[in-house]
Amino acid sequence: MTPPGEGDAAAPEIALITSAQGADFRAIAALNVLAWGRPPRRGELEQRAIRLAEEVAALAPAGKGIFLAGGSAAPVGFCRVIRDAAEADHWWLAGIVVHPDHRRQGIGRRLALEGIGYARARGARVIRSETHVDNEASIRFHASLGFASEGEFTAADGDRKIGFRLEREGTLPYFPCDGDAASSKLV
Ligand SMILES: CC(C)(COP(=O)(O)OP(=O)(O)OC[C@H]1O[C@@H](n2cnc3c(N)ncnc32)[C@H](O)[C@@H]1OP(=O)(O)O)[C@@H](O)C(=O)NCCC(=O)NCCS
Repeated sequence: MTPPGEGDAAAPEIALITSAQGADFRAIAALNVLAWGRPPRRGELEQRAIRLAEEVAALAPAGKGIFLAGGSAAPVGFCRVIRDAAEADHWWLAGIVVHPDHRRQGIGRRLALEGIGYARARGARVIRSETHVDNEASIRFHASLGFASEGEFTAADGDRKIGFRLEREGTLPYFPCDGDAASSKLV
């Protein structure tokens, strides 16, 4: 179990999903839609739940970690880290969301640190991430974790985004030690 956030005795547990049996993928799908401030489209939750279940069933722990905050039946946060396909010591923070009612309580930060610790324990030297240029909360969130901006670019889908990079070297404050993620509960 992850220690609670500073000064918050009710901080939700962070759990590492390791099997398709233990998780409620519809609840996770609902969180992943709701976090973007819109209701799900018809059939969207079911489709997303199936895709997520398939992703977890095919999960190779050496190259990916998926974390939940708050329990798999009613998660309040979700985070995924993935090893880069080309550079083995680069990992991506690829998908981090916190339920709107639970923001600014340190949950996103704890999820990210678990993910970064997981990647670090598997050889990550660089953590990379992206967000839309108008996503002020996410930009500030990345900055608060010590990510450096790599500038704006146009993504394949035409959206304007900002790239981020977190390296072990330097004075970055929150690059966790090896094995931090090992403290996570398993689902
Ligand atoms: C980005 C997101 C995951 C942050 O989750 P969170 O749990 O609220 O973040 P935390 O509470 O851990 O915040 C850590 C720090 O990030 C910064 N931060 C986070 N949200 C912020 C906001 N809305 N405005 C300004 N700073 C913010 C602050 O420095 C904060 O520390 P503080 O609260 O002590 O000031 C959440 O806002 C979210 O789910 N957004 C929608 C999905 C999204 O944009 N995901 C990222 C796409 S890459």
